[in-house]
Amino acid sequence: QEDLFKNVVSHAKEYGYIFPSSEIYDGLSAVYDYAQNGVELKKNIREYWWKAMVQMHENIVGLDAAILMHPTTWKASGHVDAFNDPLIDNKDSKKRYRADVLIEDYAEKLNQKAEKEIEKASVRFGDAFNREEFVSTNVRVVEYLSKKNEILARMAKSLGDENLGDVKALIEELEITDPETGSKNWTEVRQFNLMFGTKLGASADSAMDLYLRPETAQGIFVNFLNVQKSGRMKIPFGIAQTGKAFRNEIVARQFIFRMREFEQMEMQFFVKPGEEMKWYEYWKSTRLNWHLSLGLGKENYRFHDHEKLAHYANAAADIEFNFPFGFKELEGIHSRTDFDLKAHEQFSGKKMQYFDTETNANYTPYVVETSVGLDRMFLAVFSNSLKEETLEDGSSRTVLKLPSVLAPTKAAVLPLVKKDGLPEVAKTIIEDLKWDFNVTYDEKDAVGRRYRRQDALGTPFCITVDHQTLEDSTVTIRHRDTMKQDRVATADLKSIIENEVSM
Ligand code: GAP
Repeated sequence: QEDLFKNVVSHAKEYGYIFPSSEIYDGLSAVYDYAQNGVELKKNIREYWWKAMVQMHENIVGLDAAILMHPTTWKASGHVDAFNDPLIDNKDSKKRYRADVLIEDYAEKLNQKAEKEIEKASVRFGDAFNREEFVSTNVRVVEYLSKKNEILARMAKSLGDENLGDVKALIEELEITDPETGSKNWTEVRQFNLMFGTKLGASADSAMDLYLRPETAQGIFVNFLNVQKSGRMKIPFGIAQTGKAFRNEIVARQFIFRMREFEQMEMQFFVKPGEEMKWYEYWKSTRLNWHLSLGLGKENYRFHDHEKLAHYANAAADIEFNFPFGFKELEGIHSRTDFDLKAHEQFSGKKMQYFDTETNANYTPYVVETSVGLDRMFLAVFSNSLKEETLEDGSSRTVLKLPSVLAPTKAAVLPLVKKDGLPEVAKTIIEDLKWDFNVTYDEKDAVGRRYRRQDALGTPFCITVDHQTLEDSTVTIRHRDTMKQDRVATADLKSIIENEVSM
């Protein structure tokens, strides 16, 4: 699995998907640039989401609010006071860690131990069943898993406390060491606010302290009535938005899984108080179905219902995905009650209520939110698609089996040879297709090598122009996943591609 993850990172770089930010200066930790193919894949994921959320729902509209917002926004939302991570330093190494992540890693190791026992046992029990061994394996597995659950439950409980002393006590009791140096000499645990600060205005005394938004959602809340009134929206209705968010994450690792600058795709659904649980269930299943529609495998998703809830929520669940480093949060669905709208009403002094024309009454709507990280979606799709295949003739190929609908380039047009007028014909095919799809041209190297390169780039189709094309206007179309080749009329190319790649 570790190897797979390394391959993902290097493949993303080698094939023009993702580069470290400002790489010539050795990069900036947890900040990445999307390269020529990455930007297309990311755009296609964003469009796939937008189409499902906005275009397909008559009662959901879009918004693009600014990244900079009035600073009181973040006071009202609770981010100034409560958007913290528990931080701990090692006194010897001077390294800084997230206390909860140290504990979670410890718990994950217990989980792995349990899985190893099960794996070992299934090999041993393959031939003959040994009851004693079976029982003792079971006992060890249960021990590991219950210890893991106990640790996580204790941590969740202590993280909510003002005093984080219990978190430190847990780290000491488990004898957790500095992952890099092995030292056990820890400082106290303290809260660290994740918002990035910046300043608005030129002169030092009149400058205003601002924050880069840590979530896009607040741009939606503060515009709730503007959109509702100008769009004559009736509850229930939603506002959807995609855009950058910033968090000064302490633990910055796992590539684009946890970044300091990232993009969210969020939707706030405004409902009548009392109906929020119905809509919460609706959005949980609607969002899971959206993920499943990409065909990355049902077994790679699971729900994680939160026991401990954020200050604003009365129910919350994550959709977790099986990343190369295990199941982790991909999307959150939160029933946020009327917390945000009420808080903004209180801090702004402006009414944030909906007037129901049927009952002639005002009320503050409840909100069900769906929030998915675009970069995490990218990582899920990309890592799941990267395959190393052994072919029938014993050779191997690297293929990026991206869902065709998301692939950056839909087809590569390849003249079999660089002469006899084949390149010219290939280029007329490109001229024709480029109005509808991203297509690319390649004439370098033998055609077999060009196929392999397009496989690694994730291009679903290769169209090869050969001498027969000159006679009867047919071409070979090769399918990335099956490597099957068909002879088809040039005139049919558009509909063949359309059939497979349309959203
Ligand atoms: N408005 C709710 C909200 O922001 P969240 O669980 O903090 O909730 C939502 O974030 C989603 O944003 C996560 O499920 C994840 O996909 C993505 N996300 C959060 N922090 C991230 C980070 N540092 N890097 C990349 N994606 C992140």
